[in-house]
Amino acid sequence: MTETLLELRKFVIPEIIIGVDARLLIGRYISHFNAKKPMIVTDKAIHDFEWFHETINLIRPHVEKLFFFDETTPNPKDIEAMLGADLFLSLGCDLIIAIGGGSSIDCAKCISIVASNGGNILDYEGVDEVKMPGPPLICIPTTAGSSADVSQFAIIKDTATNIKRAIISKKVVPDLALIDPVPLMTMDPYLTACTAMDALTHAIEAYVSNTHSALTDVHALESIRLISQVIEKSTSPQRTIETMFQLMLGSLQAGLAFSNASLGAVHAMSHSMGGLLDLPHGECNSILLEHIIRINFETVPDRYRNIARQLDLAVDNVSDHLLLEMIINRIVSMRENLNIPPRIMVNNLEESTVDYLVENALNDPCMVTNPRVLTKEEVRIIYGRVLQSQK
Ligand SMILES: [Fe+2]
Repeated sequence: MTETLLELRKFVIPEIIIGVDARLLIGRYISHFNAKKPMIVTDKAIHDFEWFHETINLIRPHVEKLFFFDETTPNPKDIEAMLGADLFLSLGCDLIIAIGGGSSIDCAKCISIVASNGGNILDYEGVDEVKMPGPPLICIPTTAGSSADVSQFAIIKDTATNIKRAIISKKVVPDLALIDPVPLMTMDPYLTACTAMDALTHAIEAYVSNTHSALTDVHALESIRLISQVIEKSTSPQRTIETMFQLMLGSLQAGLAFSNASLGAVHAMSHSMGGLLDLPHGECNSILLEHIIRINFETVPDRYRNIARQLDLAVDNVSDHLLLEMIINRIVSMRENLNIPPRIMVNNLEESTVDYLVENALNDPCMVTNPRVLTKEEVRIIYGRVLQSQK
């Protein structure tokens, strides 16, 4: 047993119901919380889906009044959370129901923090800075990626600096996650691809994190196995509910792992890029992953050998050099099969912008748990490989 596995570790999760039609249990749980005025936190696009209206209709008989806050946007912003918290308090709401992807759920968590602790959401950046628990929070995730529905993380964009701030606290772990594959059947294939690669990245980063534990390892490895088996199938028009269930289960297990082991350099660099350039989180991770595996590999080669086995690669008697190339080939072919590009075009990318990206990535809390310390120069080189300036 390694020294790391003997260290004290905490493992925090919400109550979880997973399965087909789990979302339809919402009415019963509203009664458990004795809530009368819930606020639904979501985005505007969700109104197009029939399963959303079906879910809302199951809430109405259990409450006096139902309020909607559908102002959340991709890479959710401090101003959205502050507006939502103001509404929550002024309307006298008593429960938050987040229905959506990671952006809606993170925004809901931030609304909950400000509703009970006051101040500005950015006051709570960092680890364990949230003092008071928020109102009850129920999450119905609609993507198999962020795992915000089970995690201790809330990521919010500071609009004054365009930096994504991480709030990490057990006070933001939702009370209940109703994890249902049905909403995934209506998800756009490219969003499915990017969010699934985000989930796979969570599992890989949690497994090689320098705060991993026996409890996080088991979920991280199982997640890699589950996701890699179905990731390509999940974007096909012939995808089935069984495929999407497996993807969702894999994403959940990645969430259990990373929420408790934290993440690494992919997320640190992705938060920095996504915040400043307003890019999709999963797309940034997909593009960065192969580069970070290459730079981290030498520090924990045995951990990467276990990851390779979960990817169904025959690596028992191969050299470390070949092992690394086999893992990179699999990750690159996965990205290519999902039609995710190898780099992102940025209009007139200036040197000073790259300096800002490097500085913010190195200051991101996820960088602390990367298995290897990255230098400024290494981070700059990787940004050079994944960002292409467009005149
Ligand atoms: Fe992520």
